[in-house]
Parts: sequence; structure tokens; C-alpha cells
Amino acid sequence: MLKDRFGRNLNYLRLSLTDNCNLRCTYCMPHNPHFLPTDNLMAPEEINRLVLLLARLGVKKVRLTGGEPLIRKDFRRIWDLLSRTNLQLNLTTNGVFLRRYLPILSGRLHYLNVSLDSLNPGRYALISRSTPKTFNEVFGAIEEALSYDFSAVKINVVVIRGFNEDEIPEFVRLTEDWPVAVRFIEFMPFNGNGWSADRVVPVSEMMAMVTREFPLLPVSGLSNVSEDYRVPGFRGVVGFIGSMTRPFCDTCNRLRITADGHLKPCLFSPYEVDLLGPMRRGATDNELTDIIVRTVMEKPKGHPGVAELSRTAHENRRMSAIGG
Ligand code: 5AD
Ligand code: SF4
Repeated sequence: MLKDRFGRNLNYLRLSLTDNCNLRCTYCMPHNPHFLPTDNLMAPEEINRLVLLLARLGVKKVRLTGGEPLIRKDFRRIWDLLSRTNLQLNLTTNGVFLRRYLPILSGRLHYLNVSLDSLNPGRYALISRSTPKTFNEVFGAIEEALSYDFSAVKINVVVIRGFNEDEIPEFVRLTEDWPVAVRFIEFMPFNGNGWSADRVVPVSEMMAMVTREFPLLPVSGLSNVSEDYRVPGFRGVVGFIGSMTRPFCDTCNRLRITADGHLKPCLFSPYEVDLLGPMRRGATDNELTDIIVRTVMEKPKGHPGVAELSRTAHENRRMSAIGG
């Protein structure tokens, strides 16, 4: 088992397939981001090798992220390889290309998470720098996904003050008829993403907004980062992720691998170690395992407070280059 210095069992890998994306959400990407050269991205076989190594070290769950994972031309090949493992496979996507992948994901995908920050097509277009048509595509794909066999379909909503917090009740209402988990996420600071403390809506405030209109009953077991509830009589679930005001570092079981094959023990720390370089220079499984075990020991106990985080955000990769 992979344990860090603080006894946390690292059994959950978040694997970024690309730092590129077919959207440009303002809170995630700068206007003119530069992307990794294609040669620096891990090939399907390289991804598979690292995942198998980590599985041998005790990793049980993998989440494919980006950027946007479904823009990889070889996504199918990657999916086929990972499908042969005994790992729980999850996917985070912006949903733009989701519809065409649903049949391929069916039967193997566990949790499907789709980002959707507004239910208003015009507003969605503004935040994602796309078009209202894109909203319709994503919304339609989510609805279609509900008829598949995934363990849960989750909608991720990044709540930004003055932008979409007024839509929280409407998102909750979506769970009346849809068996979906809507999760409200506190806005986090990353390199050049327009974050400021006054744009964070704390989970406590989000919950107050919801309970003014809906009674909430606690639900357990859906995720170890969100606090989940159900409105009595509604089919879906409502969750709150308080990364800023209620950090969950003590129970964090995550490791990250960037699209260029760097192992990153903490989302908020710039610390990372290259695995792809050594792999391409011929490192053996034992040598790679050594690097992994040593890197994991550097996982920090927790992330600093918001003030410090926003000061140091520029030293870290932007969100889409880390993998959400
Ligand atoms: N704060 C909170 N969540 C973010 N995401 C991307 N950037 C941020 C941020 N600054 C979310 C996306 C997606 C997941 C990958 O991470 O909305 O749901
Ligand atoms: Fe793309 Fe997701 Fe970032 Fe939006 S939040 S730009 S969809 S990676």
C-alpha cells in the first residue's frame, strides 16, 4: 500500500490525459494559454504502464481528467487499455463530446462527472467562452447519460460570487426529476484564473441559500470530498465541496499525474516529479516504483490558507494543466 508520512493511504489517482481543452472557462484557462507539445504527452501504453505500476502499489480508483480528456484522438485506445485493469474508472468531462462516447463508456465507467456552471445558455457561453449551442449539447448529453448504467452522474458547478450563485436553487430543483448529483464547488485560486477572496461563496452560505427553500437530509457514501444531501422526495443528490473553507486534506487519498507524466502529490503544491522522462530513458519498473514511493513521501500535510494560496498560485500549474 502507498502510504505517505502522515499515514494517509493513497489509493486514488487523478490522471490528466491532456492540458488542452475545447472550452476556455474563464476560471480555469487564461485567454491565450500555451499547451504542452504533443510529444510530451504520455502515449496510451505509457499511461497504461504507470497505472499498472500504481495499481500494484495499492491504487484502486482512477479518474481521467484534463483539460478535457475526450479531445484525445486516442481516447478509445487509452480506455480499452485501462478497461482491462481491475481499477474503478471514473471520468471528468466538460460534456461537449460526451454523447458520442457514452456507448463506449457504458458497462465499465463508474462515476461520470460533467462540468456545468450555469443553466442559462447565454451565461454558460460567457463563462466557458463558447456558445449557447454548446450548452444545449452538454445539457442534452447529461440527460442522455442518465439512461446509462453508470453508478452516478454528477454535475460539477463552480460557484462564483456575482456570477452564478443566484442559480443554486435552480440547480437543486434539477434533482427533483433527474437522478443526478449536483455538486457546488468553492472557487479555488490558480495561476491567472481571476480568483479573489470576495468571489468565493463559502459552503456555509451556499447551504443557507438552499435550506431557505428546501429541507436537506444527509446522504453518505457518494464521495469523500463532498457533503451530500437529498431533498426529501427528490430523485437526485445535492453536494457541497468546501475546498477553501472546509479543507479535507486530513483524509486526502489522492495522487495526480499530469498529462506529461509528472507525479504530483498535492493539487495546491508546485512540487512534482517527472516519471515520463525516466520511463523514456529506459527506467525499470523497480526504478519507477522507487521514484513514486519517494515522491509520495513529499505529500504535504495540508494546503496553506487562502491568502497564502492566492499569493503562491503563480508558482503552480494552471488548473487545466494539473487535472481537476
Ligand atoms: N475552482 C474550483 N473548481 C475548479 N475547476 C476548475 N477550475 C476550478 C477552480 N478554480 C473544476 C471544474 C471541473 C473540475 C475538473 O474542476 O469545474 O468540474
Ligand atoms: Fe476546459 Fe474544464 Fe477548464 Fe472549462 S474548466 S476550460 S471545460 S478544462
